[in-house]
Amino acid sequence: MSGALKLEFASFAAPSKGVLVVFCEEGVKFGQAARKAIEPTSDLVARAAAADRFKGKSGSALDIIAPPGLDVARLVIVGVGKVRDLKAQDFVKLGGVAMGKIPSAASEATIIADLPGGGLKPERIADIALGVELRAYAFERYKTKRKDAEEKADTVKVTIAAAGAAAVEKAFAPRRAVAAGVIVARDLVNEPANVLYPEEFARRAGNLKKLGVVVDVLDVKEMKKLGMNALLGVGQGSERESRTVIMRWNGGKRGAEPIAFIGKGVWFDTGGISIKPAAGMEDMKGDMAGAACVVGLMHALAARKAKVNVVGAIGIVENMPDGRAQRPGDIVTTMSGQTIEIINTDAEGRLVLSDVLHYVNKNYKPRFMIDLATLTGAIIVALGQEYAGLFANDDKLADRLVKAGNETGERVWRMPLGPEYDKMIDSKFADMKNTGGRHGGAITAAQLLARFVDKTPWAHLDIAGTAMGSPQSEINRSWGSGFGVRLLERLVADHYEK
Ligand code: BES
Ligand code: MN
Ligand code: ZN
Repeated sequence: MSGALKLEFASFAAPSKGVLVVFCEEGVKFGQAARKAIEPTSDLVARAAAADRFKGKSGSALDIIAPPGLDVARLVIVGVGKVRDLKAQDFVKLGGVAMGKIPSAASEATIIADLPGGGLKPERIADIALGVELRAYAFERYKTKRKDAEEKADTVKVTIAAAGAAAVEKAFAPRRAVAAGVIVARDLVNEPANVLYPEEFARRAGNLKKLGVVVDVLDVKEMKKLGMNALLGVGQGSERESRTVIMRWNGGKRGAEPIAFIGKGVWFDTGGISIKPAAGMEDMKGDMAGAACVVGLMHALAARKAKVNVVGAIGIVENMPDGRAQRPGDIVTTMSGQTIEIINTDAEGRLVLSDVLHYVNKNYKPRFMIDLATLTGAIIVALGQEYAGLFANDDKLADRLVKAGNETGERVWRMPLGPEYDKMIDSKFADMKNTGGRHGGAITAAQLLARFVDKTPWAHLDIAGTAMGSPQSEINRSWGSGFGVRLLERLVADHYEK
């Protein structure tokens, strides 16, 4: 992949240089515009396809260098399988596959958005463009050297050729906002903890002001006054002071109840006194992926001027072992008044969220609250890295999330909650304890959160498996995936904007 991407739309025309990408259906069938563009070299395409046993199956590609009869340096044919089976999400993936086939040395490429069976809808072409944007992302801020063999273009100009470029531009506008939001989230997750500490996190969230988002920061003094002692207890071993950042986008009716998103922002999780083993601990720079998603989502919604009132709240703390750090056995009084006995200082995310959830519920009385957190290793044991864990006290909200997940490919799997699990976190000394033992670890973590949401419709997404170090896909090559931004943007667009 190349450096910066410059994405443009244009009408069909045979490109004279760079890389040409066309799509074909199973059976190596082309749409009219694609066929016309490769016509001068169609004999070679037929021979190359036969030689490579290329059939145009979904995900397959045929790469032809210096195709005779064409002016371009390279022709790539991407198979799509059966056109009638393609869903919106598949077009996003196709854009990603196409972008992935453009070599990093190329500075120019044209993707012909055309398939057999007549013109593609502007929305589907815009989906292809979204896939191109997402696939083009790479976090290379700290790579100062290039390997000798690496010939990389500084920028790559990708032109998507389609009929009705103006309509496509229009359909792409909201997707451009979403792509930007995903990239904001990925950058935050990838950034190391020596760079991304609370002040810097708050500064980056402050960039949302340019889009019209109101950003407020609670410092330690204010949080002490509010009684957010569970959150503060986690951060008390850190050299840097904790923060809670509140972001508000008011795109809906004046005074209409907002919807709310809450993110775990543990900017580094050593485990604290219950310290983690050394192997793999570097990944805990990503323990703020929930918060990163909330910032990215606010960016996406504000950038496309979503017609809804939204509150985003993130608790930014570091979990460190230190002379002042919290101990196992300590008991903290949360802002809600409920007390928590600390059994394991590494179960810190739920402590942070307990206070932020209560704060948001009390101050904004939202229509619903959804929190995102890299909360437990147990959810990775249960679901691997393909689905995020979904916990909810509201079936309608849960169903909508499952549907939005299937539509965007950011899938969620509903997990159980119930009184039998709830009693596993009863404590000998306090109202509850912060761990429930080995069994059902992701569930008992969610049960603790449930004690801080009252009757408000609420869902919790455990994104420990999906937000970082997640499997590479057609539309993501980055360690931080930005998981949740597309999912929640879809939820909002489908159900909460009038
Ligand atoms: N941040 C971790 C969870 C995590 C683990 C995220 C692996 C991503 C990858 C969380 O704070 C944690 O340490 N959870 C403990 C809880 C346990 C002590 C009850 C866990 O999952 O082991
Ligand atoms: Mn932890
Ligand atoms: Zn953690």
